[in-house]
Amino acid sequence: MASISARGGLLVAAATAAALLAPAVSGAIVARDCARPGAACTIAETARRAGVHFGAIASSGQSDAERALLAEHFTSVTAENAMKWGEIAPRVGNYGFADADEIAAFAETNGMRLRGHTLAWGVMQMPSDLASTVAAAADPAARMSELLGEHFGTMVGRYGARVAQWDVVNEPLEVAGTVLAKNVFLDALGPGYLGLSFALARALAPGASLYLNEYVLSWPSPKLAALRTLVGDLRAGGVPIDGVGIQGHFYPFFPLPDRATMEQELRAIADLGVEIEITELDVSSWHFRDDPDPLARQAAFFGDVVTACMAVPSCRGITTWGIQDGDSWLDHAPPFDLAAPNDPLLFDRDLEPKPAYAAVRDAIATRAVPFEDEAWGVFRRVGKLRRDGLLRGPSVRTARRVVRRAAQMLRAERFADACDRLARGVRAANEATGPAVAEAAVAITALRLGLLCDEA
Ligand code: XIL
Repeated sequence: MASISARGGLLVAAATAAALLAPAVSGAIVARDCARPGAACTIAETARRAGVHFGAIASSGQSDAERALLAEHFTSVTAENAMKWGEIAPRVGNYGFADADEIAAFAETNGMRLRGHTLAWGVMQMPSDLASTVAAAADPAARMSELLGEHFGTMVGRYGARVAQWDVVNEPLEVAGTVLAKNVFLDALGPGYLGLSFALARALAPGASLYLNEYVLSWPSPKLAALRTLVGDLRAGGVPIDGVGIQGHFYPFFPLPDRATMEQELRAIADLGVEIEITELDVSSWHFRDDPDPLARQAAFFGDVVTACMAVPSCRGITTWGIQDGDSWLDHAPPFDLAAPNDPLLFDRDLEPKPAYAAVRDAIATRAVPFEDEAWGVFRRVGKLRRDGLLRGPSVRTARRVVRRAAQMLRAERFADACDRLARGVRAANEATGPAVAEAAVAITALRLGLLCDEA
């Protein structure tokens, strides 16, 4: 977006980003402005307007109805288990791709982003013979490097064209500690396994965003500080980490942070110069068990998490670790199963949206620029170009007038009428003279693209 931004200003960049993210729908000018909080839009529609991703997990056990929710309400997919090393290869080198292939195809068919989760995870779900294979080798370090290279090559070779973002290393820090967790990778390679993993991933997937994904038990915490130090040190040493995934499991039994704290912590990580995503969000309703209106409280907390992310420009996406309350890993993972039902997701067991759904959507909307505001921005920009003498001729006045009229129509949600005016605006801008004709035409066209004016 940088070049577009330099040419046409931020508004153009925002509008163009929205247009690029828009689905290939046919047949309609937008019917409502999903950048306005409270607009009757899906989370997916609002996320596209905001230029962020909002995802959920896919698994082979999901019903058609759950998959329909996934496709309609979310823009990104993470395989819950199917792409983990030990799931796709229960024994070293013994791959069975069916589940992961199906999920990748689902994402592609529905125009959704796919997150690759996860390449090197030393905590669980590894091939059952990984540790013994490495231990039996004459040179365990060399053997582990070789196996990592083969596995990454297999995964990126098969899915790399579709995976925009890889969780290259998952959960490198101790569960509640500040040092690297002891695991099969650390045993064989020492701390260098992190650098090796990212270097391998970069070589294989030069265009993908490479993430280190970590679970964090409370905010703020020494573990968050340690994560920041770890990523900062690795990057300073030339390790190609593009992003940090904060899992965002708000487990039962651990205190919930407030919004300001979450925003502050996200900023502290973003200050390292990395992107951030909240990659595995769920909020156990155990926290609200004594509240007269637990669903409202849960909604408010979901809203706080998403608002904190939206307030930090480098925070680019959020994924919920599940779709509906009847299918959450928390209910099966000790000790969190003691709080079951955790009901930590956006849809209830009847697949109806919970209050948290609207809270999330409206929080995402805070990142998006309403069409009316975009139009006023274009109006002001054209006026400035004219005053600066960069845009000349009688048609400039026409262009400004029709853009102003379009802004008023957008406020009234008269989208088709606004499109007509903007079409006149583009023609008028193109008839003007001066070095900024293209900029003015691009700015108006970007707004038309966002409105899907040409899809009517
Ligand atoms: C969980 C899955 O949801 C479960 O089905 C599985 O039994 C264990 O793993 N952190 C992660 C995820 O990075 O991959 C985990 O997913 C949840 C915690």
